[in-house]
Amino acid sequence: MILQVEGLCKTYPGGVKALDGVTLDIRAGENLGLVGESGCGKTTLARVVMGLVAPDAGTVLLRGNPDRREFCRQVRMVFQDPFTSLDPRYSVREILKEALTLEPRMTTGEGLTRMRRVLDQVRMPRDILARYPHEFSGGERQRLAIARALMTEPSLLILDEAVSSLDVLVQKEIVLMLEELQQRLHMTYFFISHNLRVVRRLSRKIAVMTGGRIVEYGDRDAVFDRPAHPYTRTLIQAAFNYEVAP
Ligand SMILES: Nc1ncnc2c1ncn2[C@@H]1O[C@H](COP(=O)(O)OP(=O)(O)O)[C@@H](O)[C@H]1O
Ligand SMILES: [Mg+2]
Repeated sequence: MILQVEGLCKTYPGGVKALDGVTLDIRAGENLGLVGESGCGKTTLARVVMGLVAPDAGTVLLRGNPDRREFCRQVRMVFQDPFTSLDPRYSVREILKEALTLEPRMTTGEGLTRMRRVLDQVRMPRDILARYPHEFSGGERQRLAIARALMTEPSLLILDEAVSSLDVLVQKEIVLMLEELQQRLHMTYFFISHNLRVVRRLSRKIAVMTGGRIVEYGDRDAVFDRPAHPYTRTLIQAAFNYEVAP
């Protein structure tokens, strides 16, 4: 078990209950897809897992361990919007290098080798280290965001609507790249999206969230072919425009 999340609750100061007792596990190699309508709490869950938002209750364990330092190296996140997630003031080199604060023993030469390797992995040229985010398209920026996440050789990548803001052809390129990266690097994905088609393609397990709760969890094919919860049926019907047996 890579990730164990148990009983997470989070109510924002305004009174919105974004997480209402979320429990889920992710096994090594078993990508988990999380789906649910906008505002149901997906991003809050990702941010609590990453330690960016403090929960009111609940625990997050990496391989049974609560240690946050190792967590920050092993679990990395890619955010939705590549236009805001990359600081425009930093060059590609600085963006990638920042992740190396988590690898204090690495020499400058080793750091540079690592930067070149992640650029190869996301199929970006090696000679862009001195360039800045505004010089790249949305799809290229998302590749850079993924490269940044790969800098610490993570075992789990949390992708929060990572292809949602891209047009469909670019989405497809990134999805294919993620599949290829997974085969080469043996990572596991926690893939969060309201796009059921993309989630179906990338996930082994599916969790369905509504109103801060997980209402359905299971193997991908079981969830798509025989959804147990009426909310899941509604989502599938809306996404694929076909009838699902009651
Ligand atoms: N920082 C915040 N302060 C107050 N309310 C928030 C904050 N972030 C999210 N929310 C609210 O929490 C709920 C869940 O939001 P979010 O986790 O972003 O859902 P999703 O990612 O599924 O769209 C929504 O009602 C949203 O408006
Ligand atoms: Mg979100």
